[in-house]
Amino acid sequence: VDFRSDNVSRAHPAILEALLAANQGPAAAYGDDPATRRLAGRFSEVFERQVAVWPVATGTAANALSLAAFTPPWGTIFCHAGAHIAVAECGAPELFTGGARLMPLAGESGKITSPAIEAAIFREGDVHATQPAAVSISQTTELGTVYRPAEIAALADGARRHHMVLHVDGARFANALVSGAGTTPAALTWRAGVDVLSFGATKNGCLGAEAIVLFHPDRDARIVEELGYRRKRGGHLLSKGRFLSAQLEAYLGDDLWLANARHANTMARRLAAGLARVLHTAPHAPVESNQIFIALGAAVAAGLRAAGFLFHDWPGIGDGGCRLVTCWETTAEEVDALVAAAGKLRSAQV
Ligand SMILES: Cc1ncc(COP(=O)(O)O)c(C=O)c1O
Repeated sequence: VDFRSDNVSRAHPAILEALLAANQGPAAAYGDDPATRRLAGRFSEVFERQVAVWPVATGTAANALSLAAFTPPWGTIFCHAGAHIAVAECGAPELFTGGARLMPLAGESGKITSPAIEAAIFREGDVHATQPAAVSISQTTELGTVYRPAEIAALADGARRHHMVLHVDGARFANALVSGAGTTPAALTWRAGVDVLSFGATKNGCLGAEAIVLFHPDRDARIVEELGYRRKRGGHLLSKGRFLSAQLEAYLGDDLWLANARHANTMARRLAAGLARVLHTAPHAPVESNQIFIALGAAVAAGLRAAGFLFHDWPGIGDGGCRLVTCWETTAEEVDALVAAAGKLRSAQV
């Protein structure tokens, strides 16, 4: 049973059906196909305003391209020290921006705050230092927690004071949306001051499709023009773009994205509650989405692995620290099997 990542999941059957349906006859290439032309309209409905959308194949491309669109080579991008852009993208944001500087910050529960950014800004307007350009947050965070609209608004206000934009790495945006924050896609983004979103879909059921969503295409007309070139130059203008767009359409259609994320989050809550019951251990961070970080104890972790359960070690959060991730196809039986096995291992110890 595999709890290593939501990336280990299959593509959802509805996505595969959409791909088969898109695989009929010829279609215009490079994003000029009907599905891609429909996409901005569909995203605009979801976000309750006119947005501009660029489908890409990976989250790294969405992040690096959207940050590069707003950040000059002499810019500083503030983010959490654990942010995917800082630790898991092999320097793509630095490459795509032409050498901008990432400024990783510490923060509770995977979150950064405006005062922490304020404290890290230095030598503004001084030609000898890189200059504030963007704040990037992950939603959900890398610890599976969720920024509330008020927290995002505070970050956006702080960013504005220094003429910075607010970018969201929404690789798990759907999981954040249904986390119980009782909110809407609009409230979680542009209404709170977000300028640009890397909209994730792959982890939550797609085969491989993400999108850059720009919330103020009129205000940011230059960015709209440039992003087309940046995406092509970055190798993410797919010739058979219809297959990216078909995935995104099906993902947003019939609320598949919300249903998948709700299921994954429910399974995570079940898993966290079960582990708390049998191990008497609270998770390292509040379980608000589909990731659990918990110190299982080295013996329990080893025993679970020996029993065939897969998950990643997560050093720095205690003895036998690990990360367990649920996804759209995790079953209650799989969750209960892990909890039961952990309980048995724990009883054998005492
Ligand atoms: C927070 C976050 N951002 C972005 C990504 C996108 O990564 P990829 O380029 O592998 O699609 C991931 C994937 O693990 C992620 O966890």
